[in-house]
Amino acid sequence: MLKNQWDAALYESKHSFIWQYGEELLKLLSPQPGEYILDLGCGTGQLTEKIALAGAVVMGIDASSTMIEKARHNYPQLQFAVADARNFQVEQPFDAVFSNAVLHWIPEPDAVISCIHQALKPGGRFVAEFGGKGNVKAITQALSSLSPQTLSPWYFPSIGEYASCLEQHGFEVSYAVLFDRPTPLLDGDVGMVNWIEMFASRFLLGLSVEQKTDVIQNIEHQLKPMLYQDGVWIADYRRIRVVALKA
Ligand code: BEZ
Repeated sequence: MLKNQWDAALYESKHSFIWQYGEELLKLLSPQPGEYILDLGCGTGQLTEKIALAGAVVMGIDASSTMIEKARHNYPQLQFAVADARNFQVEQPFDAVFSNAVLHWIPEPDAVISCIHQALKPGGRFVAEFGGKGNVKAITQALSSLSPQTLSPWYFPSIGEYASCLEQHGFEVSYAVLFDRPTPLLDGDVGMVNWIEMFASRFLLGLSVEQKTDVIQNIEHQLKPMLYQDGVWIADYRRIRVVALKA
């Protein structure tokens, strides 16, 4: 399932690490003045703006209308549109497609990669980072132990799986890496509950307030020995980062 309606305020106030970490990916993108770049899954626009500041002509798209509304409010000088990564078309092909911390929400990589391929000029580059194989493993295990019937909403591929998919769609993969990136969450003791409410609410669907409180306490109890240190929750993120060229 693609999560279409996000709480943009919660995303901006408690999860700013998403685009702060994304700045490393920007170096890999290395946007050049005058280049035409698509920011796929732009959220509220912080990295879109960074790409524009490098002198590129950038367009941000996101499936969530609330995110796009906030992005337009934040950066009225930039171009944004609501679009589905599995099914979009562009009028003019791009020099590069950039995507940070989004593709793990879309368990249909073929549809997404096919759209990205058609959106690029020949020789254009696709630069992306998202959750890779083993991402949030301890958190997922705790959630699944309490809600075994809930299917994971996430797609966390290995390098082999994702690179093969890219090649099948006509990309040449020039760089791929899978690495652990333990990620401190904001707000001390309530960091994990904030994270679960923002990103894993599917596991709490249908529960009463009391049941939710119980489940969250149980999850925290399971995870504390592994993911809590000196008053800070640290999510067990693992990222896949790729650069692929349209042959
Ligand atoms: C991630 O960025 O890896 C992520 C975010 C939300 C849910 C799962 C993973």
